[in-house]
Amino acid sequence: MQKHILSIETSCDETAAAIVGGDILSGGVRDIQIASNIISSQIPLHQLTGGVVPEVAARAQLQAMLPVVDQTLYVWQHGSLDGWQQNSSQEHLDKIDAIAVTEGPGLIGSLLVGTEFANAIAFANDLPLLPINHYEGHLLSFLPDAPEASWPILALTASGGHSSLYLIERPGQYQLLGRTRDDAAGEAFDKAAQFLGLAYPGGPSLSKLAEHGNPSRFPLPTPMQHQASLDFSFSGLKTALRRQVAALPDLSEQDRADLAASFQQAVTGSLISQLRRAAEATSPSGLAIVGGVANNQLLKAEASALGQKLGLPVYFPSSGLYTDNAAMIGVAALFQLASGSASRFAVPTARLPLPESTSIEERI
Ligand code: KG4
Ligand code: ZN
Repeated sequence: MQKHILSIETSCDETAAAIVGGDILSGGVRDIQIASNIISSQIPLHQLTGGVVPEVAARAQLQAMLPVVDQTLYVWQHGSLDGWQQNSSQEHLDKIDAIAVTEGPGLIGSLLVGTEFANAIAFANDLPLLPINHYEGHLLSFLPDAPEASWPILALTASGGHSSLYLIERPGQYQLLGRTRDDAAGEAFDKAAQFLGLAYPGGPSLSKLAEHGNPSRFPLPTPMQHQASLDFSFSGLKTALRRQVAALPDLSEQDRADLAASFQQAVTGSLISQLRRAAEATSPSGLAIVGGVANNQLLKAEASALGQKLGLPVYFPSSGLYTDNAAMIGVAALFQLASGSASRFAVPTARLPLPESTSIEERI
């Protein structure tokens, strides 16, 4: 039966809402469609401080929340924002079957805004509410463009807040194989970019600078390459870059480009070598690279090459679903709806591990 979910995501510095539709079958979902996807980014605000200040992020969430949901409903009905006026779209809530919201992990103040809002509209409109784990959203963000994907799929999540490897046995069943021990991959890009005097968020600006750089001029170590664990660690690499920057007092544009290229290669090399070892250990039917860092062209190229070598399809997020968004939360919610999950109020939780099917020790 065709269902439409209004989903809300406010875990960090994006205020996002989406309408996601899908055919709910017994235990599954078919024909997933993203009918509307609005993201209000706070990037210009956080560029003033070079990073996210949680209090500032939460206030900005509150300012954006209502207009973003209103716009999402409007675009769903009218196909674009042409003619949109504030508070013009509430009647479209009649056509919604359920509300979904990110309950964690994330910044507690930011999460509070989205969960309070979702609880209120679900209650006022007598709609079921599905609280969703943000990781699960990222893990399933490739699915709208990959209806043919068969399970299990090995997913590398690389974003500003997380770097992890999960075996997705099927939607709703996840096995954690490796996680970050310190900085997440995107966080490492952001900090490295700061050392090189680049704007926040650092990933896009660092990878652009790296296009003209020579990655072999200042070789940096590839983290975790020689360890048995499938975890990630980027803080040592960050320190190595900082030392290298300090050792070159007058950085030329070429020096900065060469350092950026080395750093990008070391991060990518570590992500790909852990992905390859996890694939060898778990024999998946496909690979997925998700999260904001999956935008990185070098990572994309190396992941595609790995897939080709292993004879596996490689999936990336559907367009607009790389960095934080609500459409991926709606996708995860469709599967929860299909599995018969009960409606409940969302309670924001800063640290919220994804429930696992089995532990890594049992697996490897
Ligand atoms: O998925 P996302 O919104 O973060 C969290 O959910 O935490 O991703 C944002 C992160 C930022 O750290 C940003 O620097 C990084 O993704 N990023 C990139 C690129 N584009 C975005 N990192 C490397 N290369 C890129 N092209
Ligand atoms: Zn995220």
